[in-house]
Amino acid sequence: MKKTIIITGGAGFIGSHVVRRFLINYPDYLIVNVDKLTYAGNLENLKDVANHPNYRFERADIVDADAIRSIFQKYDVTDVIHLAAESHVDRSIEGPMDFVMTNVVGTVNLLQAAKDAWKGRTGNIFHHVSTDEVYGSLGDEGLFTENTPYDPRSPYSASKASSDHFVMAFYHTYGLPIKMSNCSNNYGSHHFPEKLIPLMIHNIQHKKPLPVYGLGDNIRDWLWVEDHASAIDVIFHTGRIGESYNVGGLNEWTNIELVRFLCQLMDEKLGRSKGESEELITYVTDRAGHDKRYAIDASKLEEELGWTPSITFEEGLSKTVDWYLENQDWVEKVTSGAYQDYYEMMYNKR
Ligand code: NAD
Ligand code: TYD
Repeated sequence: MKKTIIITGGAGFIGSHVVRRFLINYPDYLIVNVDKLTYAGNLENLKDVANHPNYRFERADIVDADAIRSIFQKYDVTDVIHLAAESHVDRSIEGPMDFVMTNVVGTVNLLQAAKDAWKGRTGNIFHHVSTDEVYGSLGDEGLFTENTPYDPRSPYSASKASSDHFVMAFYHTYGLPIKMSNCSNNYGSHHFPEKLIPLMIHNIQHKKPLPVYGLGDNIRDWLWVEDHASAIDVIFHTGRIGESYNVGGLNEWTNIELVRFLCQLMDEKLGRSKGESEELITYVTDRAGHDKRYAIDASKLEEELGWTPSITFEEGLSKTVDWYLENQDWVEKVTSGAYQDYYEMMYNKR
């Protein structure tokens, strides 16, 4: 094998797309998915590649330094693509400590393990996957660039910003060969149905209230998850060591415009009368400290590495809605806690 890559968080939303892409595109890589399988991680997301000869799964908590070190030794790991994280802002407001443990302590554990394992070696890469939320909140004008000062405002973004700082500190202090990417909001298949788009799709389908926070005028910049996976692929292979790259597709929507658009799309797909689903929109109490606007300038990635998004938002959203309508059983499985234990048992039997 040319490379043996740990992908952390491979059973999550974005991680599963990255694992699948790397298995398909790089037949001479061994991919070791290291995932704790929290409520957000489901091996169901990878069932189509579970028997791929170049795929291994290790259930481990990145906070557990011994477990991580032994995985490095067991596989003689050459590279890391680090996605494992607690990722939901609302949960971070309810309880920040899990975010500190996984996103900060877990990341430092991985950095330490990589630093020790790769001592005296060359050619390794530690690619840290992060978010644009580390830059804070924008006003009406401007975009986040790689030079925008960090200004995290939620416990989630504070923990990711901290992890980013440790990644850069390991590069500057120890010369660990790192790369970093900071991406805007993703959407697509296998997105856990607590986040805005899959939650709204589910609630529209089942005619439940559509909870829009505050006035619905907060803005997010949405990117198709497979385009994020392709950006990670490009940055991992051709990005410069020690650099960070912003990832985004210049696709800003207010939440309320987006929810209305989803309602129209689903009225058509479900044969409902025009405007029927919009009646489900319910304005609810705003999120504490709700960031107003995120928007990414990805010109460094486009100009330096030639990456561009592959599809429009309209196409991507239509595909996403179709996927959720066709995979109702997935939604039921991932939202039932007992399923994870069951699936691990099935895996261990193999
Ligand atoms: P997710 O919540 O869907 O998946 C996270 C995965 O990490 C799950 O499989 C979970 O089981 C695993 N995990 C959590 N804690 C762990 C631990 N202690 N040890 C091992 N595994 C653990 O998240 P996602 O949306 O796929 O995000 C993946 C990464 O991309 C995160 O680092 C996130 O900050 C970043 N990111 C996400 C977005 C987005 O829009 N979702 C945008 C930019 C960046
Ligand atoms: P989310 O998907 O949680 O992503 P993030 O907070 O990381 O950007 O939320 C996207 C936007 O949608 C954010 O402005 C909060 C808003 N939102 C709602 O209005 N209602 C909801 O039920 C959820 C989950 C989010």
